[in-house]
Amino acid sequence: MAQPRASSANTRFAQFKLVLLGESAVGKSSLVLRFVKDQFDDYRESTIGAAFLTQTIALDENTTVKFEIWDTAGQERYKSLAPMYYRNANCAVVVYDITQAASLDKAKAWVKELQRQANESIVIALAGNKLDLATANPSKRAIETADAEAYAKEAGLLFLETSAKTAENVQELFTAIARKLPTDQAGPRRGAPGIRGVDMNRTPQTANLNGQGCAC
Ligand code: GTP
Ligand code: MG
Repeated sequence: MAQPRASSANTRFAQFKLVLLGESAVGKSSLVLRFVKDQFDDYRESTIGAAFLTQTIALDENTTVKFEIWDTAGQERYKSLAPMYYRNANCAVVVYDITQAASLDKAKAWVKELQRQANESIVIALAGNKLDLATANPSKRAIETADAEAYAKEAGLLFLETSAKTAENVQELFTAIARKLPTDQAGPRRGAPGIRGVDMNRTPQTANLNGQGCAC
């Protein structure tokens, strides 16, 4: 991955808060683990509470975007915590499992909640995960791509089918989000909601605040 050029006067650095939402076991933590560490676990423990990680991507040679990622727990008992994580989020990835029809209904409910209660300008992406399962065995697919795509278009969402397992479309998902965010307002010592000043000494890093759920 390209790193920011500290010597370039044109280099822009923008920082955004991203939240992942979706039913338990759809692969939220796995998508984050793939994005942040390029790894995958066949047996992941369900997230407890939420996990925090960061990842930095170079959009082009002049623009660097850092995501502060809140990977929430999908189990019902943690649902009431979600507003704490999506409040002030600049972007959200709402995940469903393309082999589980009910998981899309749950994703739609999250989208509705975000559109009602999150930042007005929030960028929302819908990710249909576990694409590898349908590629290996088409009969496992429960949600047609065209149906999810039509819903996403109507609701104004970015949309991609992904596989945390094979990495298909994972980088593309986060890059597409970064491209929709207002990076043009970023720059040295210029502030805007969700966008902070340049700190070229920063390097990509990861962290897990609770150490219990996502071991990313
Ligand atoms: P909660 O933390 O309970 O909300 O679940 P989660 O959405 O974070 O799901 P998690 O990432 O823990 O993944 C659940 C299970 O699905 C794990 O066994 C993963 O290995 C598996 N999994 C995740 N993504 C994929 C994928 O793209 N393909 C396949 N085949 N399995 C996946
Ligand atoms: Mg998880």
